[in-house]
Amino acid sequence: MQATSHTYDVIVVGELNIDLILNQLNEMPVTGREIFAGDMALTLGSSAAILASNLSSFGAKVAFIGKIGTDIFGQVVIDHLEKAGVHADMIIRDSSLTTGASIGLQHNGDRGMVTYPGAMAHFSIDDIPLHRLQEARHLHFSSYFFQPGMQPHLANLFRTAKMMGLTTSFDMQTDPEHRWDINYAAILPYVDIFFPNENELMQITRKESLEAAIEEVSALVPVLALKLGASGSVTVCNGETISQPAFHAGNLVDAIGAGDSFNAGFLLKFLENAPISECQAYGNIAGAISTTAAGGTSAFHEQKSLDQYAKETFAYPGAGIT
Ligand SMILES: Nc1ncnc2c1ncn2[C@@H]1O[C@H](COP(=O)(O)OP(=O)(O)OP(=O)(O)O)[C@@H](O)[C@H]1O
Ligand SMILES: [Mg+2]
Repeated sequence: MQATSHTYDVIVVGELNIDLILNQLNEMPVTGREIFAGDMALTLGSSAAILASNLSSFGAKVAFIGKIGTDIFGQVVIDHLEKAGVHADMIIRDSSLTTGASIGLQHNGDRGMVTYPGAMAHFSIDDIPLHRLQEARHLHFSSYFFQPGMQPHLANLFRTAKMMGLTTSFDMQTDPEHRWDINYAAILPYVDIFFPNENELMQITRKESLEAAIEEVSALVPVLALKLGASGSVTVCNGETISQPAFHAGNLVDAIGAGDSFNAGFLLKFLENAPISECQAYGNIAGAISTTAAGGTSAFHEQKSLDQYAKETFAYPGAGIT
């Protein structure tokens, strides 16, 4: 990370919850029957927190703004973030609310999730100390549809950050209610990097083809970074479209948080002023490594830089590649 007068490289605003992941089910649950899971992990959940944790463990200075309860799951979230080096002092702990939780059920490569939003559904623009945004160089917001209190104010949040001189990024994430009701044309003019996956992009634009969806959205935002799972990613920036295949690390455990890890790898290099193609490659690298351990953060528990991970796991960049 380059030296800067800012306290933080990135302030992440978003939802907070734990993930309880039940792996190796011999079938998906059916009404009236009990089944065993072969493995279980309690990990940090939520797109925003996984991104913050991984970005911090790659060496960026990261602070988080969000809302939890004063319960044990809230403490799990705080402990995990702080262990990864994320500054948690702007996180609101409300004793009248319950920290959100997602239960993930994995069977034969398929995944079902149930989320209780809890405190994240009560998070609003009034919970954000706007004057403190200028302590960072970059603002990231995640999970639009999980935070109704933020929806009418998101364009304004990004606009305020831009006026303070920050760069901005947005990962909308899925809509569990399948309504996909978002006025993205009002938000994206204040966003520098938009991080949807293919399904999310198709749903919000309601276009017939991926090409039409990409064309529509890339006209609104300087960098579109589109995630394509095991097929890698596409970026569109300054009229240039770059497709890059995924890296494959071999031992796939689950793809939970691969998208957030992609964002972390991409943003780390963006903050180092790397070319977009390099940001994209490191996004793909972080996404692929994330799939090698349960949940979104456990693949990055060693205090290693992303460059070290890239070199050791994929010999990237290889000899002669710059
Ligand atoms: N099975 C995989 N093998 C290799 N790389 C993968 C795999 N799955 C994901 N990735 C990498 O991670 C990136 C992001 O993953 P994905 O496309 O699943 O994001 P997402 O749908 O936003 O995920 P999330 O569920 O975390 O929100 C991909 O662009 C790819 O580079
Ligand atoms: Mg995603």
